[in-house]
Amino acid sequence: MIRILFADESQHITSNVMKRLEREDGIALCGTARDGEFAFQEAIRLKPDVAVIDASLPGMDGLQTTELLSQHLPYTGIILTSLDSENDAYRQAMYVGAREFLQKPYRGDDLIAAVRRVFEFEQKRQTISQSSSALHDAQAQGAAQTKNGALITVLSGQGGSGKSLIATNLAIDLKRLTNDRVILLDLSLQFGDIGALLNLPSQRTIVDLATNDAVTDMESIEQAIVKGPEGIDVLLAPLSPEQADYVTTSHLRVLIENLRQEYPYLVADTASYLSEVTLDAIEMSDFRVVVFDPSLTGTKNAHLFMQVLNVLNVDPETVTLVMNYRETGPGLDQAGIEGFLHMSPHVVIPYDGVNVSKSQVTSTPITMLAPASPTAAAIKGLGQRLTGEEEAVLEAAKQDTVKKKQRRFFGFAK
Ligand SMILES: Nc1ncnc2c1ncn2[C@@H]1O[C@H](COP(=O)(O)OP(=O)(O)O)[C@@H](O)[C@H]1O
Ligand SMILES: [Mg+2]
Repeated sequence: MIRILFADESQHITSNVMKRLEREDGIALCGTARDGEFAFQEAIRLKPDVAVIDASLPGMDGLQTTELLSQHLPYTGIILTSLDSENDAYRQAMYVGAREFLQKPYRGDDLIAAVRRVFEFEQKRQTISQSSSALHDAQAQGAAQTKNGALITVLSGQGGSGKSLIATNLAIDLKRLTNDRVILLDLSLQFGDIGALLNLPSQRTIVDLATNDAVTDMESIEQAIVKGPEGIDVLLAPLSPEQADYVTTSHLRVLIENLRQEYPYLVADTASYLSEVTLDAIEMSDFRVVVFDPSLTGTKNAHLFMQVLNVLNVDPETVTLVMNYRETGPGLDQAGIEGFLHMSPHVVIPYDGVNVSKSQVTSTPITMLAPASPTAAAIKGLGQRLTGEEEAVLEAAKQDTVKKKQRRFFGFAK
């Protein structure tokens, strides 16, 4: 049962919502409030799963209430409602810690759908933080014997921002920079592009490993791996979208833990939506590369995505923010970008229509086709940053000055 606290000054809206919720299975109203202070007190007393807070509550307003609630009740998902247009209010809502924003007037069905999404997200987040501490314990115990390759996951809040291009070239750059074994994993399970980008045969894919026996058996894993350019190994996405369902997150976890024993570097390309597979990949990663294009929506979605990472308790020092000009044109200016993101990107990749399309036509990654081009050089810079960071962490662990070094490498303004 999902328990909701509903806070709105309007008695009319509250009673409409009450009526609508009575017809809904699995959701119950556990309390209501008409001002911010009372909403906060009730939330502390009732510990609801989801709190729906209106921005214009009298007394302490909805934004302040949301901010307080997100600090004191981290397991309550908050939906902020407001009469203001989405563009203005959205940013503020996310900034104070709301999970969703609903512009008024909203339909009962939209509220219910938002409540269910927020609840599911909170459930997932809690399982992840529990399993992550279990995993950490297990790792701490087995750390002496096991080798642990670094999983680098390339992510973004929207499609077409350049994830597949960056993941592919980054894998090759890492191979060249370290001369260690590198595997590129296509975790964009429904519409993976790596096979097409590298023109690789795909008789065997990750689907062939979607049984408990196969993910634990290194021989089966090796049979599913294909050889990519420059000596990298590749594990391709399924041939058709419906096959993606066969790959569960538990298969993936075991598979990645096994691959970590063999490969010092694992680079994963992902789908743009937050599927369970993507959430799990985020959780398992050592480094997260977040790609965005500097358009208004690209930047807005990058901000949202960074909020998600924050909610998932991802250490910001493991996140590299990459701004990729996938189109010509200036995009937002620096002030606009920093206004949304409260930080500047760590790596900027310029636009290169000619070489990128040539590389697609010839199935040759740009880092091989035009290694001296500014675009290829920027992606290589990302690889250097990641490998440099890793060495710094290892070295710093010895010297017990981890924090200072990581900060310097990531240039975080703290
Ligand atoms: N820096 C760039 N310069 C030119 N074209 C780019 C650049 N980055 C991405 N593109 C193009 O944009 C499209 C989307 O890139 P892709 O890597 O497939 O994105 P995603 O995997 O995030 O959906 C592709 O056609 C790609 O070649
Ligand atoms: Mg892609």
